[in-house]
Order: sequence, then structure tokens, then C-alpha cells
Amino acid sequence: MGRRRWLCSVVTGLCLASAMVSATFAAQTAPEAPMSTATHSRPRVLILATGGTIAGKADARSAIGYDAGGVSGQDLIAGVPGLDKLATLHVEQIANIGSQNMNDGVWFALAKRIKAAFAAHEADAVVVTHGTDTMEETAFFLQTVLKSPYPVVVTGAMRPSTAISADGPANLYEAVKVAVAPQAKGRGVMVVLNDTIHAARWVTKVSTTDVQTFHSINAGPIGYVDPASVRFLAPAVQAKAAVPDLSHAEGKLPRVEIIYGHSNMDARQIDHAIEDGARGIVLAGIGDGNASDEALAGLDRAVAKGLLVVRASRVGSGLVNRNVEVSDDTHGYVVSYDLNPQKARILLQVLIAGGVTDVHAVQAAFGQGLY
Ligand code: SIN
Repeated sequence: MGRRRWLCSVVTGLCLASAMVSATFAAQTAPEAPMSTATHSRPRVLILATGGTIAGKADARSAIGYDAGGVSGQDLIAGVPGLDKLATLHVEQIANIGSQNMNDGVWFALAKRIKAAFAAHEADAVVVTHGTDTMEETAFFLQTVLKSPYPVVVTGAMRPSTAISADGPANLYEAVKVAVAPQAKGRGVMVVLNDTIHAARWVTKVSTTDVQTFHSINAGPIGYVDPASVRFLAPAVQAKAAVPDLSHAEGKLPRVEIIYGHSNMDARQIDHAIEDGARGIVLAGIGDGNASDEALAGLDRAVAKGLLVVRASRVGSGLVNRNVEVSDDTHGYVVSYDLNPQKARILLQVLIAGGVTDVHAVQAAFGQGLY
């Protein structure tokens, strides 16, 4: 059935089980020609497990008080009937954490492993299992730093693996099914949960409990997956964005703070961020990314000190455009357009890490991905 070997995880430093599971490939998901020159009868999917509720354990009658990240990636795939019929699977445990603890170290480890797997023609697609709380951020980070036509699908679950009606097995099955679908090529990093396929740029978590928690509010899902098919709603579009060179980042992104806008807002948190050495500030502003006069004065002090300031919105839908209520030209701000504050933060971190700090170049980078 397969071969099993032991690896040392770069992140945890622990030796973790890794396995190769081979099986017959289902005809309805016939792949394109494999990447390597060697002959492969089935698509090869590298599954990178990071933890989350999909790997959580609890009393079967309750999802309360569960431990996110208690089950290994290998055990996860063993619990999904028919998964080994879709592809040749290779599982590696990159971390086993709740995604509230997701961090730069795991992000860089994921990006490095995915780049290496595609460069060496080891895999035709990658599936990352992950907690849902920060899934959109990891997906967007990977989308920002990877440049490969091969699909990367991030999935997870809202209910722990031991819950009645756990959603993880179906989500993992559908994630692999999307990853091996020929039409998934060229679509970058996707999030698949509960029969829907989302682009990393637009997807966001909208419910604390609902299994249909992921929505792409400004755009809608890019496709659907069900037992019969994988359907995308539009052709793949080539991403325009240049991939920043993070070779000098040494596994750590620069500090960028998100400051949440509200009524009665003063500038104390903004001034604290400046004094504390942040390289940038993302305003999760009210309405179309606005803030009180006091807060804007604080943001002006940030710009004067050389920080990059990005105006995003706390509203959750709609775009933040330049020079509408706030004159970005006058203040020297950047706007996030369609990116929510948590994704704007990641893009700004990656740009600064890649040496892109000119305000016009940063603004242009935020516009890439919009047409
Ligand atoms: C987490 O994000 O790790 C916990 C919540 C979840 O996966 O749904």
C-alpha cells in the first residue's frame, strides 16, 4: 500500500511520521500530464498539515473545550474514505497548532517546502490543512510569495475531528479533489471548505460557528466542488503581481500594526506603534477607511517618521479607494482597495521585507490583482 519514513520537522524540531500512500486514481478526476518527466499514473498531492480544528479532539457529543491540533496529518487522511483513490498522497507535518498561534516561522516553512516540492517536480499540487481562524491570512501570504501554476489548496474544519458530523473529512476530500482537477491549474492559492472554492485574495471568515464560514464578500466564490464535479465560474487569470524577494527576511516579517477605528478615537495607539518601532500601520478604519481628526493627525506623525500607512476598512465589504473622504495624496497614505485589514497587513509586511518602501510602489502593489 505504501512506504513510510520519518522526517524532522523544520518548525517543531520533532521527528514526525510521514507516509506515502498510493492508490488507484479515480477516472472522473483525470489529471493533466504530470510535472516530472517520469511516468506517473496518478497526480501526486503533497499534504502539509499544520493543525487547527480539523485536527482537533473533543468529546464526540460536544465541540466545546476541544484541543485544536491534536491529531496528526497522517491520521487525518487515514480517516477520509476514498481519499487515496484521488491521488498519490504524501503527508508532512509542518506544525500542529491552533491557528491563533500561526506565525512567520510556519509561514516561511510552508512557502519553502511548497517551492521546493514544485521545483523538484515532487508534487503536482499541495493541500495545506490549517485552522480556520487565520486560514485566510496564511492563504494570502502563500499567494503573495509563491509563483507557480500548480494548485495550492488550503482547507480546515469548523468542527473537531471527533465531533458528530465533523466537517473535516469532507473538506479534506474536496480539497484534494480540487487540487487534482486539471482546471485548478493557474489559479494560485485557494481555500476550499463546505463545497465552495475561494481565491486567497478575497476569502474571509465571517462566522464563528457556521460550517459555511468562508465567504468572498466582494467577489463571490470562484467555484464549487461536490461529489459530481469541480466547477470554476470563470477562466483562470494570470496573476500580475511580481513576487517579492524575501531572501533577506530570515524567516521574520517586519512589524506592522493594525489599529482599529471607532468613535471617540484618539491617537494613543498610533503614537505607541510609532514609538515601539513598527514599520507600518494599517488602519482598520470606519466606513471607507476613515478615522477621527486626532487619529489622522497621529497617522500623519507616522508618515513623517517614515512609517507606511495603509487605510483599510473595518466594514467587511466594499473597496477603500484613494482620495474620497480622505486626501491620500496630501497625507501620503496608501489605500488597501479590496484587501481587508489583516491581508493589507501581510502585503505591507511582505513588501517592506522585499525592500519595496516607496509609497507609490506600495500603492501600485496593492492595486495588483485588480483589473
Ligand atoms: C483554529 O483556527 O486553529 C481553531 C479554529 C478552527 O480551526 O476552526
